[in-house]
Amino acid sequence: MKQTELPITMKAVLLPAYNQNVIRAMVGLKVNDIAIPAIQRKQVLVKMEAATCNPSDVAFIRGVYGIKKNLPAIPGFEGCGIVVAADNHPAAEMLIGKRVSCLATSDGYGTWAEYLVTDYSNCIEINKNIPTNQAACMFVNPLTSLALMDIVKKSGRKSLIINAAASKVGQMIRSLAKKEDITIINIVRREEQAEKLMNEHEKYVIISTDEDFDNKLKSMAAETNALMAFDAVGGEMTGKILNAMPESGKIVVYGGLSGEPIGGISTLEIIYKKKIVYGFNLMDWLKTTETSAFKHITDDLQTLMESGEIKTEVQGQFNFTDVIAGMKQYLGNMSAGKIIFCP
Ligand SMILES: NC(=O)c1ccc[n+]([C@@H]2O[C@H](COP(=O)([O-])OP(=O)(O)OC[C@H]3O[C@@H](n4cnc5c(N)ncnc54)[C@H](OP(=O)(O)O)[C@@H]3O)[C@@H](O)[C@H]2O)c1
Repeated sequence: MKQTELPITMKAVLLPAYNQNVIRAMVGLKVNDIAIPAIQRKQVLVKMEAATCNPSDVAFIRGVYGIKKNLPAIPGFEGCGIVVAADNHPAAEMLIGKRVSCLATSDGYGTWAEYLVTDYSNCIEINKNIPTNQAACMFVNPLTSLALMDIVKKSGRKSLIINAAASKVGQMIRSLAKKEDITIINIVRREEQAEKLMNEHEKYVIISTDEDFDNKLKSMAAETNALMAFDAVGGEMTGKILNAMPESGKIVVYGGLSGEPIGGISTLEIIYKKKIVYGFNLMDWLKTTETSAFKHITDDLQTLMESGEIKTEVQGQFNFTDVIAGMKQYLGNMSAGKIIFCP
C-alpha cells in the first residue's frame, strides 16, 4: 500500500443504534474520533470533501433500508474526495491523487466522515470543473436516472408517468426525457410542487391528493398512451398508478418513500390487462454493467453535468458536527434540494 503521512484516526458521524422513528435515529447520531480502517484488496482511501444525504440514508439510519451494517456504523452512501492511498492493485493505485465521486461499500463505513475506505470500482474519476456539491451527488441519483431512462429508450415508449416527480430523480428524468421527446405525466403530493412544475411548462401535472386523482390520471395515461411508470413511493400509490394505466402498462418501483407495502393493485388488471410491476436497484445495475459500458455512461454523465442538463439542487451545506441540524433541514423540505455535509 502506498501511503504518505496519513492520520490514523478520523472524525466521523456514528450511528450507535437503528431506530424506526427517524427523529430518534437522527438525534442519536454522534460525531467521534475513530480509527481509519485498513485498506483491503482492491480498495482505496478517499479524503472526503463532501457527502450528501439521500432518502436511502434516512431509511438506513431507521434500519429499514435494504442494507444493514454492523453498529456503530458511519452513515452515508455517496460523496466525493481525493484518493490519498490505495492497495497495490494497479487499478486502485492509478486513482491516487485523483478527485473522485465515490460510493461506500455495503458492509464498510459510510461517507459521513473525514475518510472513506472503499473499492476502487466504487470510484469515478471526475473532471476538475464539476463543482464539489455536484460531484458529491453524482453516483446515486444521476446514474439511477440514466439507467431508468435507458429502460424507457429500450422500450421504445414515448410517454412516461413519474411519481414523486418533484424529487431530484424526477427532475433528472424530466431533463433526459426532453431530449428524447418523451412526454411525462408528473405526480406530486403538494400544491407548490405542482405550481413549480407548471411554471417549468410541464403539461401534465397531477397532485396525488386531488379528489378525482384516479380518473384524472387514467385519462392522462390514455391520452398519452403511458405504458411505463416509475414509482418511488410504493404503498397504495403503486396500485393506483398501475390500475390507471392502459393495457400492458408496466410500473418500475425504485423507492419506498411511503414506507408502506405496495397495495391496491387490481388482480383483474394483472390477469386480463397484462400489467406488470417490477423493481429497480442501482446496486444491481452497477454489478451487471460492464466496465467499458460504465466508463462510457459516466463520461456522458459528466458531459451532461458540465452542460447543466443534469444538476442536483442543493439547499444547504453543513459541517459533519452539525449533522442533526442538516438532516432536520432536509427532512423539513426534501424537494428544496440536497444537504451537503463537509468534514
Ligand atoms: N432504487 C434505487 O437504486 C434508487 C436510486 C436512487 C434513488 N432512489 C429513490 O428515489 C427516490 C427519490 O430520491 P431523491 O434523492 O430524488 O429524493 P429527494 O429529491 O431528496 O426528496 C424526496 C422527494 O420525494 C418526495 N416524497 C417524500 N416522501 C413522499 C411520499 N410519502 N409520497 C410522495 N412523495 C414523497 C419529497 O417531497 P416533499 O418535499 O413533499 O417531502 C421529495 O420531492 C427515493 O425513494 C430514493 O430512495 C432509488
